[in-house]
Amino acid sequence: MIRLEDLTKEYDVLPTAGKPGQVLATDRLNLEIGEREIFGLVGPNGAGKTTTLKMVCGLLVPTAGRVTVNGIDVERQPEEAQKHIGYLADFFALYDDLKVWEYLDYFAHAYKMEEAAIPARIDFAISKMGLEPKRDSFIAGLSRGMKQRLGIARAVLHDPPVLVLDEPASGLDPKARHELKEFLRELNRAGKTIFITSHVLADLEEMCTSLAILEKGRLVRVGKIEHVMRSDSPGRRVRVKLAMASFPLADWLGARPDVSTVVPEGNFASAIFAFAGGDAELAELVANLVAAGAPVCGVEEVSETLEQIFSRLSSGEIM
Ligand SMILES: Nc1ncnc2c1ncn2[C@@H]1O[C@H](COP(=O)(O)OP(=O)(O)OP(=O)(O)O)[C@@H](O)[C@H]1O
Ligand SMILES: [Mg+2]
Repeated sequence: MIRLEDLTKEYDVLPTAGKPGQVLATDRLNLEIGEREIFGLVGPNGAGKTTTLKMVCGLLVPTAGRVTVNGIDVERQPEEAQKHIGYLADFFALYDDLKVWEYLDYFAHAYKMEEAAIPARIDFAISKMGLEPKRDSFIAGLSRGMKQRLGIARAVLHDPPVLVLDEPASGLDPKARHELKEFLRELNRAGKTIFITSHVLADLEEMCTSLAILEKGRLVRVGKIEHVMRSDSPGRRVRVKLAMASFPLADWLGARPDVSTVVPEGNFASAIFAFAGGDAELAELVANLVAAGAPVCGVEEVSETLEQIFSRLSSGEIM
């Protein structure tokens, strides 16, 4: 649905002492986003995420390479491509002196939506973003989070098959964030392809089908979410919990050859460790631990979170 081929963007900037007059924001990106994917793009500040999304939407001309959306070359036919895209920018201006519904109505006409379909689409977008109480309020009086909701409502208004969302959760309260996640899943089930950036990695982990990690304009990891979450993780990780810290858990674990990287937690009554054995060996470990006098009250396998994977793979340096 979205294809990036060697997509490169170099910004011209004023040269400063020792620095060249160009910033390489994206460096030969190749990506393919299939229909009905929720594709997450993550990376530290300045990695090139916003730059990438703007090129996908035809709002920024690539220095080299190209983007196609649904087979349409975005640079050659930006308007045609934009019909297929609902875009939420990272920062956007709203018209302060319009009411919420008027703003959506204005865009519905700008999108050249069919007149008869407009009221129902406006109602849908307003209701999905929880904006009913603000329907007749002026935009000038909306809070930051409400403005964000309005931006998302606008992006979905014309029912585009592709959504390109730059940090949609930014400024939303926890309940709204949760509802947004549900809404995006619902849109996805209805057939939409979603290309999304977010610094809230836990949300992406729950929602995305695929993920790319971008750093200094280059992809450092890309693939199906299960694959990205699994790749080069340091083996199986297990947490053992004791009822009280009456036993030298970390030392005992550390002495076993099939255990490595023991990380004691909190009050030393529990620890996470990498374990090289299978289920039978784990059962044996637990039996030995109990026999040695440890008051074991819990054993569980823990998987690495996206946040942890990201910290491990990314230097987090800003560009
Ligand atoms: N208009 C511009 N002119 C010059 N340089 C720019 C411009 N926009 C972005 N850049 C530079 O391009 C690089 C990528 O910026 P971009 O906004 O794409 O990052 P990002 O991944 O979206 O970061 P963030 O997480 O902060 O939103 C940065 O080094 C940035 O300083
Ligand atoms: Mg950005």
